[in-house]
Amino acid sequence: MSFNLRHLTLADLAAIERIERIAYPTPWSRSMFAGEIAKHSSICLGAIDTDAAGCLAGYLIISRYADAWHVMNVAVEEEYRRRGIATLLLNRLFELTSADDRRGYTLEVRVSNEQAIKLYERLGFVSRGIRRGYYTDNREDALIMWKDPVRERASA
Ligand SMILES: CC(C)(COP(=O)(O)OP(=O)(O)OC[C@H]1O[C@@H](n2cnc3c(N)ncnc32)[C@H](O)[C@@H]1OP(=O)(O)O)[C@@H](O)C(=O)NCCC(=O)NCCS
Repeated sequence: MSFNLRHLTLADLAAIERIERIAYPTPWSRSMFAGEIAKHSSICLGAIDTDAAGCLAGYLIISRYADAWHVMNVAVEEEYRRRGIATLLLNRLFELTSADDRRGYTLEVRVSNEQAIKLYERLGFVSRGIRRGYYTDNREDALIMWKDPVRERASA
């Protein structure tokens, strides 16, 4: 199986929505994705299964903030999980933003989402705090994770 990465377009919205609804208890709406795809300050990447007629296997949405790149959303279709697709998407993000040495990377993740936490830790994110009751569906806490490319380079 092989995958290509490319920028998402509005034509991907139906496929995104199919993945999103299964991936999250409180899925984003189409208009939230459309808004991110339209923004110059966001990077929206899709992983395409080149063996399956261009089927969307997963996606990553990142927004540029004053102090950091914020990982807003990453999801992979269930049948494509554990094949390195999320890793591929995040590594492409690091490549695309490597010239930006002012901003690190941050995200929030449910404290119960052990697989995602493991994924982020493997990519160099570390826990830097908790947002209490962050998720509105069940008041679950969010782990705040950061990856600081400057510090990583300095200690390499
Ligand atoms: C989290 C998610 C994006 C991971 O996508 P993925 O393409 O399967 O991830 P990868 O194949 O790149 O996994 C990289 C590593 O993360 C860890 N990992 C990922 N899924 C895991 C799982 N189900 N159980 C344990 N570890 C897991 C492993 O260390 C894995 O490496 P390995 O397969 O060599 O052991 C995917 O499970 C998903 O879409 N989940 C639902 C949405 C979600 O929770 N998104 C994150 C919100 S913050």
